[in-house]
Amino acid sequence: MELIETIDELRKRLSGERNVSCVPTMGNIHDGHLSLVKIALENAPLTVTTIFVNRLQFGQGEDFERYPRTFEEDCAKLEAIGNSIVFHPDETQMYPEAQEFYIDPPKVARKLEGRFRPGHFRAVCTVVSKLFNMVQPQSAVFGKKDYQQLAIIRDMVDQFALPIRIVPAETVRADDGLALSSRNRYLSPEERQEAPRLREAIVQIRDAIVEGDRKFVAMEYAAGALLSRHGWNVDYVVVRTRRGLRRPAPGDSDLVILGAATLGVTRLIDNLEVDAP
Ligand code: PAF
Repeated sequence: MELIETIDELRKRLSGERNVSCVPTMGNIHDGHLSLVKIALENAPLTVTTIFVNRLQFGQGEDFERYPRTFEEDCAKLEAIGNSIVFHPDETQMYPEAQEFYIDPPKVARKLEGRFRPGHFRAVCTVVSKLFNMVQPQSAVFGKKDYQQLAIIRDMVDQFALPIRIVPAETVRADDGLALSSRNRYLSPEERQEAPRLREAIVQIRDAIVEGDRKFVAMEYAAGALLSRHGWNVDYVVVRTRRGLRRPAPGDSDLVILGAATLGVTRLIDNLEVDAP
């Protein structure tokens, strides 16, 4: 596996390559990331996994400083599954001067995560479009775990007519259902035991919808109350349309349940798609 740290070197290495798949990450590689890389490898002979902790997408009081940086282990895991190139730019490569041009995402970026993390998706879109310009991949893999991020990046690629196929990847879970996330490592042993409840609350809503229940607001309220009773600080548990992430209207059937809540100091997100009958 090759390690590349500068844009110049990356461009030289990739010039003439016609089928490159990119997996943007912030490192602390776990099985969820590895599943994205495996999908990238099925899509292209050359896979570039990027590792860059993007300061701009962390809000005030978020965990930028303590975000786990485990570069050596990350490389060992990526190498073991056949990843071709790790692109690991530092801040002088990514932001040689203060970033003044931004991608300004549409209204959907101010809902849900955007409401609780103002400016987050503007920074994500900006860094992802910079990474796309650097790597110039033909495809890129993003996890459904960050459902809103995936939806926004897909729309960005469509609206800017970028010649990149966005490949969605299913969420990878621990045996008890907890979605894998770099932030799970902040959970205390007791919190780790409690953590699957977010997914369970979402699954309960999914099961009710599959049974034909469309009292979405009541379900959302019940899920939020359940989590609060168990010590969670709930940002949202909501049912939305898959396209546009808006409240479902009568007849909408392609739905997704999304949740975000904090346990102790750890904010977790999860989601589940559901086809309403
Ligand atoms: O999902 C992530 O890890 C980040 O938001 C991304 C896409 C790598 C951009 O920094």
